[in-house]
Amino acid sequence: MPGIYDEPELYEVACSYRDIPGEVSALLRWSGQHRDSDTGPVRSVLELAAGPAEHSRELARRGLEATTLDLSPAMCARARELAAADAIGLTVVQADIRDFSLPRQFDLAITMLNSLCHLLTLDDLLQHLACLARHVTRGGLYIVELAHPADFFAAERRTSSEWHSEVDGGTVSVRWGGGSDEIDPVTQITREHVSVTYRKRGGGVRTVTDVVPNRFWTATELTAAIRLAGGFAVVASYGDFEADSSVAAPDAWRMILVLRRERRAGRGAAGDGPSAG
Ligand SMILES: C[S@@+](CC[C@H](N)C(=O)[O-])C[C@H]1O[C@@H](n2cnc3c(N)ncnc32)[C@H](O)[C@@H]1O
Repeated sequence: MPGIYDEPELYEVACSYRDIPGEVSALLRWSGQHRDSDTGPVRSVLELAAGPAEHSRELARRGLEATTLDLSPAMCARARELAAADAIGLTVVQADIRDFSLPRQFDLAITMLNSLCHLLTLDDLLQHLACLARHVTRGGLYIVELAHPADFFAAERRTSSEWHSEVDGGTVSVRWGGGSDEIDPVTQITREHVSVTYRKRGGGVRTVTDVVPNRFWTATELTAAIRLAGGFAVVASYGDFEADSSVAAPDAWRMILVLRRERRAGRGAAGDGPSAG
C-alpha cells in the first residue's frame, strides 16, 4: 500500500494551506540577521527531507542555487518534475538525512514542516547534525522548523490535526494525527494516523491512508543534542514565520530554531566537509 510520501500530489494539496513565499521571506530575513556578517549574501541552500521542495523552488526563483534531499523516490521525482515545469534550476538528491555526502557546502540549510520528527532516536538526530555540519559553510545557518511543544504539553493544541482546504482543482480533507493517537510516554513516538481525501471538481475522489511514526523532540533535548553533536550553536528561535514572535509567546504555533555553523572546530562529531562550491 503506498503511504502518504509515495503520493506527492496528495501530500501537496494536503499541505497547500501554507504561505510558502511568506515562509521563504522569513528564512531570508533570518539569514540576513544571523549569518556571520563577513559571509556575504546567501547564495546556496540545501533543503533536507524536502518532499516536493516547495521552499527550495521558491528560493531558486529568488536567485539561490538550490539542492534538495529526500528519502522518497516519488517525492524526488515530483520535485524534479515541478522544477522542470517552471524552468527552475534545482538539484535533487535521493538520500537519507542521517547519512549523505555531497561534494560541496551550502550557505544555508533548512528542514521544514517538522520533518525532524522522522528521526526517531537520539543517535539518528546526532548522526544527522554531524553529517549536516560537514555540509554548511562556517558562519552559515541551519534553520529547523518543528512542531510547537504546546501541541504535546498544553491542554489545548496550537495547531489543528484536521483541516479542509479549497485547492485549485477541488477540495481536500486531511486528518494528520490527533484524535485517539497517543504519544508513547517512554519513546515520545506517536503512530500518527493520516488520511487525505482529495475531491476533484467535476468528479474523481482519491484517498490515501497511512500510519506515520512521529518522534516529538523537546526544546531542551534539541539543545542538548546540538551541543553534543558539535559544529552548530543555537543563535535564535521563533514561534512563527509572520511576526518573529518568541517560541514562548502565548500565540506561538511553531518552534523554529536558527543554528549557526561554528567558526572553529568544536567538541562532538562534526568535522570539516568539502569546501564551498
Ligand atoms: C512532512 S514531509 C515534509 C516535506 C517538506 N519538508 C515540506 O515542507 O513540505 C517529510 C518528508 O521527509 C522525508 N523523509 C522522512 N525520513 C527521511 C530521512 N531519513 N531522510 C530523508 N528524507 C526523509 C519524507 O519522504 C517526506 O518527504
